[in-house]
Amino acid sequence: MAGDNRINPRENRLPHLGVCEGQTTLFADGEPFVILGGELHNSSASDLTYMDRHVWPGLRRLGGNCYLLPVYWECLEPEQGNYDFSLVDGLIAQAERESVKLVFLWFGLWKNGNSAYTPAWIKRDPSFFYMEKRNGTYLESVSPFCEKGIEADAAAFTALMAHLKDTDLKRTVIMIQTENEIGTWGSPRDYGEAAERAYSAPVPEEIVSIWPESKDKSWEEAFGLKGPEYFMAWAFSSAIGRIAAAGKAVYPIPQFMNCVPDMLPIPGLAGVYPSGGPEPSVQRIFRKMAPDIDLYGPDIYSPVIKGVTEAFSEANGTEADGSINMERRGSLMIPETGQGKDCISKVLYSVTKNLICFSPFGIDGMMTPLLETDYLAQMNAPFAPEQQEGAENLRRAYQLLRIMMPEIRRARSEGRIHGFFQEGMGDLFTLPDANITVSYSGMELGEDLFMPGMGAGGKQKDGAPCGGGFILQLEDGSYLLAGVSANITIAPRYAQKEQVFVLRKREYFLDEEGIHAGRILSGDEGNHIVLGSSLTIQSIEFYRR
Ligand code: DGJ
Repeated sequence: MAGDNRINPRENRLPHLGVCEGQTTLFADGEPFVILGGELHNSSASDLTYMDRHVWPGLRRLGGNCYLLPVYWECLEPEQGNYDFSLVDGLIAQAERESVKLVFLWFGLWKNGNSAYTPAWIKRDPSFFYMEKRNGTYLESVSPFCEKGIEADAAAFTALMAHLKDTDLKRTVIMIQTENEIGTWGSPRDYGEAAERAYSAPVPEEIVSIWPESKDKSWEEAFGLKGPEYFMAWAFSSAIGRIAAAGKAVYPIPQFMNCVPDMLPIPGLAGVYPSGGPEPSVQRIFRKMAPDIDLYGPDIYSPVIKGVTEAFSEANGTEADGSINMERRGSLMIPETGQGKDCISKVLYSVTKNLICFSPFGIDGMMTPLLETDYLAQMNAPFAPEQQEGAENLRRAYQLLRIMMPEIRRARSEGRIHGFFQEGMGDLFTLPDANITVSYSGMELGEDLFMPGMGAGGKQKDGAPCGGGFILQLEDGSYLLAGVSANITIAPRYAQKEQVFVLRKREYFLDEEGIHAGRILSGDEGNHIVLGSSLTIQSIEFYRR
């Protein structure tokens, strides 16, 4: 918290969040850094030899700049108070050798709502009590009301952070995810003894300070059907607040939490999605109780991303009292998303927002065949032919974005970049020189190529990614389009005294050396651009008469 005598991350060149070109930015080694990487399967980082044989070769081909991987409490503290940092040190050494950064995921008390990664000495000791369902059966998850559990986790987390401070001198680890997808699955709340006591009391002071109208009310009187979820958000965020603060006090690098958003299959039913996780609707509680968590990010496994990314970006900029925090405003953190062919569309769209991190889950399985025995991991990221095209597309997108990131950042702050993503029939952009229509249908050429902008009618090629990309007005006034699976129609602006025409369209390609200009497209192509199923980059220039 502010006002203490913590190390100043900025002065000490530690990874930190700051502002660049008017936007919240993650800084690593003193420079703006957008994480373009991926998250490993849960178990990959538990064995350094496995990492060398099955993970790094694929990641090397992908060319990301940072990877998210777990640090497992059960490995870090096999006996209470005896820490084993060999895995942590080995992972950092491997990342240094690969010239990439890491984000550590602290798999502590809670991972996907359960306590599978707690050490055996916790699992075997019932005084680390579990949450209970209404029928009295246990959830396999230490209760956030278990003081002893919070203290033990905070101690281990602090030991980890102190170790990073002292040994990670190249500052390879640039961010920490505090726990993983917290919340109760399969029950709207904890019904254990301690939880019952707290639930029957009036809503606590901290909550009243956010919503004064909740004073002297029960959780359900104050929040209706949402009562159990708000209650669990308060319980979890109180615990997380203590764990995060303990770690930050020794080593103040950015911390974030990931969240299963309230979406499918039944919106609004906490317990079907984890109840008490940092959903945007309850994030003000987290801001209040856990001020050391800097950012929250959605794990997006749904084909629609616009609404959920907007909701989290907005929540990241909102303080507990509802005011705007200019230093976090609009930040977009995507710690997990489905892997495969649509990654390219998602990352090209997301980069038009204030993107801090883009990280498809199971990235190692997308790049390299998994072992036959990894059946669950294979479900999450099958090494299928279409995945291979997806991986190649993602590799190219990352290459393009790494070259263009400074330009993209400037363009974002000046409103010169526009993202499109296939949700519905199309997108329309009214730009200074032209109206540009993006439609997502006719990827089978010929079906509606000469009726662009009409939307429905065409057929997406089998296995093609969903449509997505961006239009960037460059500093010289020309436009660059990068994306996949879309038909673009350019309708130059027309006014009585001044008419705009297309001067020239041109294609670009990427190779080992970078980005190069290719063919000039002033012929039959007309005022149309077709973005194919692999990354297409084209530019348009206009002139006026
Ligand atoms: C979300 C979790 O956060 C990850 O650790 C992983 O288990 C994926 N789900 C699997 O889809």
